Amino acid sequence: MNTRVLTGITTTGTPHLGNYVGAIRPAVAASAQPGVDAFFFLADYHALIKCDDPARIARSRLEIAVTWLAAGLDPEKVTFYRQSDIPEIPELCWLLTCVTGKGLMNRAHAYKASVDQNVAKGEEPDDGVTMGLFSYPVLMAADILMFNAHRVPVGRDQIQHIEMARDIAQRFNHLYGQGQELFVLPEAAIEEDVATLPGLDGRKMSKSYNNTIPLLEGGAKATRAAIMRIVTDSREPGEPKDPGSSHLYTLYKAFAAPEETASFARALEDGLGWGEAKQALFERIERDLAPMRERYEALMARPDQLEEILMAGAERARRIARPRMQALREAVGLRSLVAPRAAAKPAASGKAARQARFVSFRDEDGRFRFRLLAADGVELLCSVAYDDPKSAGAVLKRLQGGEAAQLQAEDGPRFVLRLDEQVVAASPAADDLAARDALLARARQALAALAAG
Ligand code: TRP
Repeated sequence: MNTRVLTGITTTGTPHLGNYVGAIRPAVAASAQPGVDAFFFLADYHALIKCDDPARIARSRLEIAVTWLAAGLDPEKVTFYRQSDIPEIPELCWLLTCVTGKGLMNRAHAYKASVDQNVAKGEEPDDGVTMGLFSYPVLMAADILMFNAHRVPVGRDQIQHIEMARDIAQRFNHLYGQGQELFVLPEAAIEEDVATLPGLDGRKMSKSYNNTIPLLEGGAKATRAAIMRIVTDSREPGEPKDPGSSHLYTLYKAFAAPEETASFARALEDGLGWGEAKQALFERIERDLAPMRERYEALMARPDQLEEILMAGAERARRIARPRMQALREAVGLRSLVAPRAAAKPAASGKAARQARFVSFRDEDGRFRFRLLAADGVELLCSVAYDDPKSAGAVLKRLQGGEAAQLQAEDGPRFVLRLDEQVVAASPAADDLAARDALLARARQALAALAAG
């Protein structure tokens, strides 16, 4: 199975050069690696925690989505979606909220920082703290656990949130997993050699310091104008300059190859003037940005296309989220009322309740179906639809009786169950063939166990 890599981008603000070097560029590069299933999403529910200006939220989602696509993110390869297009995420968030200790949230850095500020100002500790801010890490855990992400690339300030997601996942597994891992425990992935980019004044480039260099918004003109405002020392042209203590050099290095960077360092040591150095920096950065600008402008002019890309991404994400949420609802006991009756026998004793089971239900069209669920609630098979409960029940009975039914893999990531050569049930689509085969093996075991019991 591929490694699932997932990360979210909070949609406040406009991406700047620091975001590009620190997050966008490495993430896009990583998403193109073989063996990786990448999930990138716009954390627009998280944005609401920080920002109550609707126009800014809307604008930022647009700019960020277009920037990532312009930077080379391939929506065919990466599952790229808006958090707010996945209703299963807030649904899962609630299940997680119910197992998350308030004490754990009390320890979150972002919340504690707000409290500390309030106390320093002599205000009430929780002044201006919303439940959104307080529960921020739970929503983030839902983002991650929904897709069973293995690796979560984030900045250092987010490590604690990933650890909290692990804690919450562990607690949930313990309470509801019945020995199975309902949630994969995610790991934070910190890119060690991605430098944080200095801003105009040499401090970390950040909107809160007002020292950013624009990336694509405003065009090359805006990027150049900002570069010309980079703070330097007062050394004149001709005077040797120390690259190591110049953040202009650090910026150059973040874009150029090692040989280019070395010759830029030599030029500074040989007395290159700051004005020329800035021009060289601008030209070097622009070499990378120019092709992105074209894609940026094109997509900005076609929001309908962007909307289509994002909705396709949401649908792809929901193909995973829907059945997962269904299994998780089952696990916590939010089950169909019809189901326990059909599965009355196995549910009768405590031990049997932990076995795989058949669950009957009526589908959205009012027709009759049943599912085969593994002991942990994972869906293994879903039957075809029957017009009346008797026909569904008859098939179910034969299966429970251990009648020779055939499980067979299909060409795609599914398998089917045949009885008298007729397909009577099919598995949900697995992520890949390996996952399908694992599920198939579980279905075999489950059917055998049910027939034996
Ligand atoms: N909190 C993250 C940030 O501000 C954004 C985010 C939201 C996220 N949900 C996530 C990151 C899930 C990784 C995984 O940077």
